[in-house]
Amino acid sequence: MSIDTLQKMQEEVQKRRTFAIISHPDAGKTTLTEKLLLFGGAIRLAGTVKGRKASKHATSDWMEIEKQRGISVTSSVMQFDYDGHRVNILDTPGHQDFSEDTYRTLTAADSAVMLIDSAKGVEMQTKKLFQVCRKRGIPIFTFINKMDREGRDPFDLLEELEEVLGIRSYPMNWPIGSGKQFRGVYDRHQTQVELFQGEDHKEIHVRKVSGYGDDMVKELAGEFLYDQLAQDLELLDVAGDPFDYEKVRTGELTPVFFGSAINNFGVQTFLENFLQLAPVPTPRRSTQGAIDPLNEQFSGYVFKIQANMNPAHRDRIAFLRICSGKFERGMSVKHVRPGKDIKLAQPQQFLAQDRDIVEEAYPGDIIGLFDPGIFRIGDTLCQGGNYEFDELPTFSPELFSKVSVKNALKHKQFQKGVDQLTEEGTIQVFRTIGFDDMILGVVGQLQFEVFEYRMKAEYGVEVQLQRMNFQFARWIIDKDVDSAKFRINSQLVKDKNNNFVVLFESEYAMRSAMDKSPNAQFLENAP
Ligand code: G4P
Repeated sequence: MSIDTLQKMQEEVQKRRTFAIISHPDAGKTTLTEKLLLFGGAIRLAGTVKGRKASKHATSDWMEIEKQRGISVTSSVMQFDYDGHRVNILDTPGHQDFSEDTYRTLTAADSAVMLIDSAKGVEMQTKKLFQVCRKRGIPIFTFINKMDREGRDPFDLLEELEEVLGIRSYPMNWPIGSGKQFRGVYDRHQTQVELFQGEDHKEIHVRKVSGYGDDMVKELAGEFLYDQLAQDLELLDVAGDPFDYEKVRTGELTPVFFGSAINNFGVQTFLENFLQLAPVPTPRRSTQGAIDPLNEQFSGYVFKIQANMNPAHRDRIAFLRICSGKFERGMSVKHVRPGKDIKLAQPQQFLAQDRDIVEEAYPGDIIGLFDPGIFRIGDTLCQGGNYEFDELPTFSPELFSKVSVKNALKHKQFQKGVDQLTEEGTIQVFRTIGFDDMILGVVGQLQFEVFEYRMKAEYGVEVQLQRMNFQFARWIIDKDVDSAKFRINSQLVKDKNNNFVVLFESEYAMRSAMDKSPNAQFLENAP
């Protein structure tokens, strides 16, 4: 690589921050995303941000089912520039539209922003998404939202992060009052007070101070709130964790910011700090060792496939995370799994309705590739190599339905549809022992609806789904596996690769089965 090319690559990689926002529904993810996009001037009706009102359908609602429900089914990507950075936000749907796609998207992020409602603390979906990020060891930044409302004590919230999620925290700023009395925050790093100006919050007033002992802080906070603030900050200084960048980098310590997304309070400071602290695209593991983003040869992997964005054309889009090298439109790359060379002629990027054609892109960027049905989730594309990136994790399903075809004459199409949708990662399929009934497993209810809809729209098959009571699936490794052992509150089935899996109705049933089979191994994911 010439020095100029290397320099350009380094600059482009250094600029990039690719992250996902993880939160429980209603914590304010849409609001925060909109505000972030506004800072970058990239809002054009905020592309993939879901529409909250029926009249304001999110423009990423390509699929018919999305239109009907006014929500965004699958995760997409938003990009904007801010202060010399190129920011990629990966959208992770959180409502009923929670699915395996949501989890997989997290593999494409280099860091995560965890958004928490100050009144509710750590909620269910945040916990699940957090765990996926935790496994990858990526840095996690926390934004505690809705400080303009009565919320919980900030110390309580930090304690919860530690107790429920097992992550230590470092508050970057600290609230001065809350709810109706919310006056703003004290920025511990920059030793300044940021004032929240009630109704008129158009401008944020920032006052530089010498420390929290500064008389100015007392004046700005008012006597009553100041005493509390000074006590809190002292306690943090004495008993709180010190700021340790290494621990932030490995996901052991989360920098915490307090703010109010809807009032745009604390969002800009959050963004600026985040851009300073969040990692640039890092090397990714492959079958031939780590692939450095600065590697001259292009590489990337498919983390999600979205079908039917345009029903008239029945096209599919494969979302590819670039891991190394520079992408140029029209370039030829090796599609490693089938061992074929392909030309990337029609890559698209997504922001709002326009499918912008991408001419070039760099590590950390996500591009959408037109997919005539050749890609699978996890596929590697690369130049001048023959390696594959680490396999994408599969996730243990939590919802199960028995599925059958309404018209037995359509059995062939039914099987074809099930095979293809399983391959795409839309659903997981299990078969009962003996009767060979088919059971679908998913992590989010919407996956069933998408399955039903696509079977009809794409394969002309009407299916019947019958919900089952199971809540857990565990792959069992046991040389004497016996289906008779799993008759009550559980059932032994096989996955698509003929591995034995036990489905359980409750955690209790699962625990007691484990106790009764001490020599067996029960795995959360396929071996
Ligand atoms: P989500 O994407 O995480 O589901 O959350 P969303 O942004 O849709 O926000 C959920 C609700 O919380 C919205 O109210 C939103 O206005 C509100 N909200 C977000 N940030 C803040 C904040 O900082 N303070 C306060 N007080 N509220 C906040 P909604 O009534 O459900 O929707 P809408 O009628 O405002 O659209």
